Amino acid sequence: MERRFDIALFGATGFTGALTAEYLVANAPPGAKLALAGRSPQKLEALAARLGDPAVGLVVADVSDPESIRALAQSTRVAISTVGPFLTHGEPLVAACAAAGTDYLDISGESEFVDLMYLRYHEQARESGARLVHSCGYESIPFDLGALFTVSQLAAGEPVALAGFGQSNGSISGGTLRSAVNALARFQEAGRVSRQRRAIERHAPDGVIAEGRTVRSAQARPHRESLVGGWVVPAPLIDARHVLRSARLDSAYGPEFTYAHYVVTRRLGRTIALYAGLPVLLTLAQFGPTRRLVLTYRRAGEGPSAERRARSRFKVTFIADHGSPRRRRRLVTSVSGGDPGYDETAKMLAESAFALAFDDDLPARGGGQLTPALALGHPLIRRLQRAGIRFEVLSDEV
Ligand SMILES: NC(=O)c1ccc[n+]([C@@H]2O[C@H](COP(=O)([O-])OP(=O)(O)OC[C@H]3O[C@@H](n4cnc5c(N)ncnc54)[C@H](OP(=O)(O)O)[C@@H]3O)[C@@H](O)[C@H]2O)c1
Repeated sequence: MERRFDIALFGATGFTGALTAEYLVANAPPGAKLALAGRSPQKLEALAARLGDPAVGLVVADVSDPESIRALAQSTRVAISTVGPFLTHGEPLVAACAAAGTDYLDISGESEFVDLMYLRYHEQARESGARLVHSCGYESIPFDLGALFTVSQLAAGEPVALAGFGQSNGSISGGTLRSAVNALARFQEAGRVSRQRRAIERHAPDGVIAEGRTVRSAQARPHRESLVGGWVVPAPLIDARHVLRSARLDSAYGPEFTYAHYVVTRRLGRTIALYAGLPVLLTLAQFGPTRRLVLTYRRAGEGPSAERRARSRFKVTFIADHGSPRRRRRLVTSVSGGDPGYDETAKMLAESAFALAFDDDLPARGGGQLTPALALGHPLIRRLQRAGIRFEVLSDEV
């Protein structure tokens, strides 16, 4: 497909967008045609001057101007979006990419948005060939690709009970805070859209699980897990849904696959504080004045400083119980790296874009909404390993 750009980044002047722009410019292969897109020409010019690459294209586009979004989607082979909250700002670019046959990536962790985009654009994207890949940041690359890495260490054809445990000490940006508060305010709506999606996906020609295979979410409860150093609590985050979706459509996850998703809290006191704090946050998110109060914690466009990010780390540990009932084995793996929310998210997103634009060994799955593991699979794992994110086998014991 001949287009003016290989990769265009929409939201380049935002907090995560600027970090992604830096990574793209510093790491693109020679001759790659990059563009930075945003609503403010002045901010775009200032960013381009800071990055110092005269070959980068600048595109002015605003979510409220459909023609500018259409033109952006038609100008590039791969469009990336960091324009969030995605429920508020995300749909026009997804729609334009589905129509133009343009591959699309974002870092949305908002499950209602991802489900709505499936309901509205999956079929159109299947026809146009556009691959629509959401959640290519800390949510959900280490979990979705980590699960794929883990099952690919096992003998084919075995049942697998997998559990993922996420642990990080990062801080959040104003954009992430806005997306999270918005999602909390709409949790009932999100449940309704998710049920609608499940009812349709179950019967979609590319959603039906192969005969003889089962894939389900495992019962999860708070417990002490010595392998990750303390208390863990079940977390209904989008990561688990991507892992299960990847497993439904790929027989590499075995004939019988279950997944349980946890956040590591380490101490019992933190576990109790989390359970007590969540209903409070949920209540604050429901009402305009209290919602605005929570949002004063950090303004849109702001995020953790370089020093704070340099102190941040993440580690996702996977425990896979597998093998025959007579000879159960336990494989432990991990995915780990630096600042999860921003530095590593920028890396994961940019490497996903390089993979879509330039790798010719990606899984051949055609267009439509795909999880990161289904769309980018092992080629992205290799790219991330080369970029310093560790995928490791820690132990494999009977
Ligand atoms: N999955 C993950 O792990 C992960 C990690 C990090 C962030 N995120 C998500 O990424 C999103 C962005 O976060 P952030 O902290 O980078 O937010 P941010 O700094 O507020 O950036 C938002 C961007 O959207 C742009 N924008 C807003 N309204 C627009 C419009 N009408 N037309 C065009 N552009 C518009 C802003 O443009 P201006 O620059 O002109 O203001 C800015 O560039 C959030 O939804 C966050 O939750 C996810």
